[in-house]
Amino acid sequence: MESLGSSLPVPNVQELAKENISAVPDRYIRPERPAAIVTGSDGIPSIPVIDFQSLFDGESAPAEREKLHRACKEWGFFQLINHEVKTEIVHKMKEEIQGFFASPFEERKSLSQVPGDVEGYGQVFVLSNDQKLEWADMLYLVTLPVYLRKPHVWQMLSPSFRSALEYYAIETQKLAKKLLELMANNLGMKKEELHESFDDGMQSMRMNYYPPCPQPELVIGLSPHSDGSGLTLLLQISDVQGLQVKNNGAWIPVSPLQNAFIVNIGDIMEIISNGVYSSVEHRAVVSHDAERLSVATFLNPNMNVEIGPAPSLITSETPALFKRIGSPQFFKNLFVRKLQGKAYINELRIEKRNE
Ligand code: OGA
Ligand code: NI
Repeated sequence: MESLGSSLPVPNVQELAKENISAVPDRYIRPERPAAIVTGSDGIPSIPVIDFQSLFDGESAPAEREKLHRACKEWGFFQLINHEVKTEIVHKMKEEIQGFFASPFEERKSLSQVPGDVEGYGQVFVLSNDQKLEWADMLYLVTLPVYLRKPHVWQMLSPSFRSALEYYAIETQKLAKKLLELMANNLGMKKEELHESFDDGMQSMRMNYYPPCPQPELVIGLSPHSDGSGLTLLLQISDVQGLQVKNNGAWIPVSPLQNAFIVNIGDIMEIISNGVYSSVEHRAVVSHDAERLSVATFLNPNMNVEIGPAPSLITSETPALFKRIGSPQFFKNLFVRKLQGKAYINELRIEKRNE
């Protein structure tokens, strides 16, 4: 795998935000942005909470597994508490990411994306010079398997950042695979099919930095999108709200729980589950006064497999809803388009369904 794709260079938003501007440049203004529903009032739904330990505890396991199944079908999103990733590993990862984004611009620049590759510091999904931009910078890396790591990017990471990533990558990979096994089981899918797709799976991370913004209601930190992944584990680093999930047409704000991961179903899992699970649209908004940081860890299939509905889930009553596509081609196509809701997965549908 040479490169996942490329993206046009864009201004650094963190540096732009430091200039004490009172109005944001036109390229960041999103007149179309619908407001989120008001937080705090009664009756606002919130994403389900799954207790990882309960999923394996004899007494509570059946009910908690059923709850997981419903969360994947009805929300595509849940918060995972009592997971097995050690607090120290999560803490170190948070510290290193904060350290990176707090370092002088000259240092951050050493990790800048190089032409023709999305890995590194910059932005992704920017295809034209008149495209609207997001109020954010990001650092994108392929983390696993080790042989897919880009030496030119990894060598530029400080030894302590590299080590934090190393532990975090392995632990989140283990956790994601356990969740996938439970999901496969809930779906009634053959175990071998899961292993064929996700053994030696490609893991990538997107570390997001959303600077404060003088006109937060006019911009967007991250456009509405579903993730192109199998499964995503999102870790919010700063205690500032920003993530919103689309549910029944409304944008629902997510308040991350202490020591939780926000887990969501990606497009690939929607495809594999033949539409039983769904990859749900989400976005990030920014704040007037506070910066916000997060890291999304994407668990993807390996690069040798064909992505398509699991054969064991295809029956005459539930025919395949998605086309099959080679894993490398899936990612190539993902990075040559703007981030736009569920446009990409919709192209892979055999029958266009009315949502
Ligand atoms: C992502 C993502 C949300 C956030 O990186 O794919 O959805 O809160 N991030 O940063
Ligand atoms: Ni996302």
